[in-house]
Amino acid sequence: MAAVHRPQGSSTPERKGFLGWLNKRLPVDEFIRSQLTGYYAPKNFNIWYFFGSLALVVLVLQLVTGIFLTMFYKPGEATSFDSVEFIMREVNFGWLIRYLHSTGASAFFIVVYLHMFRAFLYGSYRAPRELLWILGMLVYLALMAEAFMGYVLPWGNMSFWGAQVIVNLFSTIPAIGPPLVEWIRGDYGIADATLNRFFSLHVVAVPLALLLLVMLHLVALRQTGSNNPDGIEIKKNITPDGFPLDGIPFHPYYTVKDVVGVGVFFVLFTIVVFFVPTFGGLFLEGPNFEPANPMSTPEHIAPVWYFTPYYAILRAVPDQRMGALLMGLAVFVFFLMPWLDRSPVKSIRYKPFISKLALAIFAVSFVSLGYLGLQPAEGSYVMLARIFTVLYFAFFVLMPIYSRMGQPKPVPERVTYHAH
Ligand code: HEM
Repeated sequence: MAAVHRPQGSSTPERKGFLGWLNKRLPVDEFIRSQLTGYYAPKNFNIWYFFGSLALVVLVLQLVTGIFLTMFYKPGEATSFDSVEFIMREVNFGWLIRYLHSTGASAFFIVVYLHMFRAFLYGSYRAPRELLWILGMLVYLALMAEAFMGYVLPWGNMSFWGAQVIVNLFSTIPAIGPPLVEWIRGDYGIADATLNRFFSLHVVAVPLALLLLVMLHLVALRQTGSNNPDGIEIKKNITPDGFPLDGIPFHPYYTVKDVVGVGVFFVLFTIVVFFVPTFGGLFLEGPNFEPANPMSTPEHIAPVWYFTPYYAILRAVPDQRMGALLMGLAVFVFFLMPWLDRSPVKSIRYKPFISKLALAIFAVSFVSLGYLGLQPAEGSYVMLARIFTVLYFAFFVLMPIYSRMGQPKPVPERVTYHAH
């Protein structure tokens, strides 16, 4: 891969005063020059490229609101539910902090799913970005663990029963399953010990892992540089003085552009927070406004919407062990994407019809499974879940074959960019 040389005229002038003092001790200017003003990103980013920076914004929002919630939340079977009610009714702006955090969890997944779908569209997972993709997938796994444990903390009835179902899935692992479940729960059922360890993991361990993984994700991105909607490596076209011909400095061009995305995001986000925080039971489920009750199972146990595609796969299979295995595979198979896609081109723009059709079927299957996971597991819902489960896996399993079929469109030498 051709190295991108430092563009001419970008060296930092010698600073005086405090900034001079600071720069001798901390490479602030050097960092800004090498990572922002001197870092060239493709000039043809479209709307799909907003979601990475939005994910960062939501990550910060979750950390900040989480810190404030932790000041008032009291983990424990006897205290959790009441402390959340106390936050909602008595703490100044407690309702706002809690709704920002609960809506933030759903917003995180919306943003991350769109961020991942962009990679599907433009082949961003392919060489040389395999590790960037794998790190992204590890972020996704950490995010799922974080969201699951966070959902247990209010100790509502769905917290309790959701935890019951999900933790029990580990019992399907041969040999070590049952003792493993007991070890996770720290008791013979979902209990005080479970709640306390989920609290500590949710507040300390997983956020630390998330931060570390996101940092590595960004370092890996910096190393390869961004892909773009044409799937062309901009490092292939370098001017004699070291500029990528199709690149523009990340700062100010993309920092300013990303601020627009953040503005639009916050308009939509605050509409939900202030007017529909439960989002019709999708972001906060009805049974979770009742305290956990081991004697009363909610009519339909369903996880929050971002897990329901996998939940539908779990329930589509009659054998629980097989269902749990397929559910795990449904997530794991994403890791293999860089090696399953054998297409000679990266971007969907130049892929033949069959690849476009496969991606469309996959997207429809994922969304449909998400819907079906929210419905009771009976009758035609189960039948449909089975059909979409087959289509879901067919997308991955058949990819090495169909990605080589058909004639791709010729990929241009330079990125396509239309000035406004
Ligand atoms: C907390 C969650 C995440 C954060 C904060 C984050 C952040 C970012 C940022 C800032 C970028 C550059 C801007 C952009 O391309 O949109 C990026 C690129 C990328 N991310 Fe993430 N990301 C997250 C999760 C994920 C996940 C879950 C995946 C996939 C499994 C992923 C895969 C990628 C890929 C492939 C790129 C390069 C895209 C391209 O250049 O076309 N990310 N990420």
